[in-house]
Order: sequence, then structure tokens, then C-alpha cells
Amino acid sequence: MREGKSHVKKPYVIIHTLTSLDGRIHAIDLPEFNSAALQYEELALHADTQVFNIDGYLNGRVTTDDNNTFYRAPDVNESAAPVPEGDFLGDTNAPMYYVSIDPSGRLGWRENFVNYGTRLAHVVSVLTEMASNAYKDLLRRLGISYVIAGRDKLDNALVLHKLATLFGMERVMIGGGGVLNWAYLQDGLVDELSLLLAPVADASPDAPGLFTAREPLSMVQPHAFSLIEAKPVKESTVWLRYKVNREKSA
Ligand SMILES: NC(=O)c1ccc[n+]([C@@H]2O[C@H](COP(=O)([O-])OP(=O)(O)OC[C@H]3O[C@@H](n4cnc5c(N)ncnc54)[C@H](OP(=O)(O)O)[C@@H]3O)[C@@H](O)[C@H]2O)c1
Repeated sequence: MREGKSHVKKPYVIIHTLTSLDGRIHAIDLPEFNSAALQYEELALHADTQVFNIDGYLNGRVTTDDNNTFYRAPDVNESAAPVPEGDFLGDTNAPMYYVSIDPSGRLGWRENFVNYGTRLAHVVSVLTEMASNAYKDLLRRLGISYVIAGRDKLDNALVLHKLATLFGMERVMIGGGGVLNWAYLQDGLVDELSLLLAPVADASPDAPGLFTAREPLSMVQPHAFSLIEAKPVKESTVWLRYKVNREKSA
């Protein structure tokens, strides 16, 4: 990032993920998985029950398409007038923010919020300069905030700096998926890993995993973690919380 080190701000960052016993993060069609999924949501995705005291949560482009925008093409106007340069702040006073990591501007949003239990989470789209004028025009028309953090590759530290300084976020969750989780972890930006381990497995070789290295965003590299707490919760589900060790493993 361009700012001097002394000016860099960062929220406290928690990766919170529901995994199977074999480390996969896709949905598995079993009652045991559904029970663990409800517990995952209670811990993190409901305004009245969330335990992390977060102001916002980040999701990768694929996760947002799976859950919110459903692979729709964005309804852009290719002849839109040029939008002003820089970031667009639609709401800086929201009770919760949904931060969508979408470097090229591909997601087909139709509104500027997602449901967060009894509240709405205001959508903040994180873009690079690769995102088109027409896409930024669409976000402005919808009242979706956006920040630009990088020319053709996201500067993850700058993303967090902007979330902290422009929106006042002090604690955020990374909701996944595995590509997003690993990119932030590898950049040394994650403070805590929270895993809800569901008592299920299906050995699917192609399912997304908790962490996925993807060049040029990230690479395969060993990392170690220190246990904060291991807690059995309901119905054979276990909640594991780790600190991320700053020193790399040998
Ligand atoms: N069990 C759980 O708790 C949980 C939670 C979340 C998601 N999921 C599941 O996980 C699966 C998706 O995971 P995934 O790993 O395939 O995808 P993902 O992390 O959701 O999204 C990956 C995409 O997001 C963008 N991206 C992420 N990090 C980036 C970074 N640091 N810099 C630039 N771009 C970045 C890129 O978009 P472009 O391709 O547009 O460049 C990348 O291809 C889905 O099946 C979802 O349902 C499970």
C-alpha cells in the first residue's frame, strides 16, 4: 500500500468458517451439517446473537455469487457518463457492512443491502481499477459503496485500511471462501481463526477447502496456529479458535 507504515490502520480480523471433518467448506446434505450451519449463523450472521462483535464481514466473489447475486450479469449501462474518480461512500453509518471482494466488478447486485438477522448490512464493493466505468455507475445508482484498492491486483492491506478509516470498522470477519481466507492469511492480516467443525465428511476431491492457494493472489506455504479454545457445542459440533502464528513454520 502507498500510505506510510505509521498511518496504516487495520481492523481486528477473524476468519470464521464452517468446515467438514475433511476440511471442506461446501454444503453437505445431512441433518448434522444443517445443525452445524445454524450454529455457524448464530455465532456470526445474526445481529442479535453474533459473538464476535464485528462491524462488517468480507466474502469472496464466488461466495457472494453463490449466496446473494446468483451469477446474474450486472445490469450496466455501457453509455453511462464517466463517474467521478476514486471511492464512493453510500453509507458510512451502517450498523453492519457486507464487504464484497470483487476485483473486476462482476457481481450482479440489485440492491445495496443483504439481510443480517434483524438488521440490514450495507454492501461495500471492493474493486480494482480493472472495474469498468459502467460497473461503478451501476453501484452508484444502487447506492452501493465501493472502494478501489489496487490497479489490477487487490492490495489486501489497503482494503482493510480503507474499511477502518472510511467506514470506521474495528472488527471484521472473513466469511470465506477458501481463496479469500488464504490470501488474507498469507498477507499476515488475520488475527484469529474460528472453525466450526461439523461432524460430517464426504471426501469430495473437488470441493472448496478452508484454505486454497491461488496464484497470483497467494501461494502454497506452511503456516502454524496456536489454540485459544476448543469447545464442544451442540450435536457433536466442535468450535475451535486459534491465533495465527506470525512466524512461519519451518
Ligand atoms: N462453510 C463456510 O463457512 C463457507 C463460507 C464461505 C463460502 N463457502 C463456500 O466456499 C465456496 C467458494 O469459495 P472459493 O474459495 O472458491 O471462492 P471465494 O473465496 O468465495 O472467491 C474467490 C474469488 O474472489 C475474489 N478474491 C478473493 N480474494 C481475493 C483477493 N485477495 N484478491 C483479489 N481477488 C480476490 C476473486 O474473484 P475473481 O474470480 O472475480 O477475480 C476470486 O476468484 C462456495 O462453495 C461457498 O459456498 C463456505
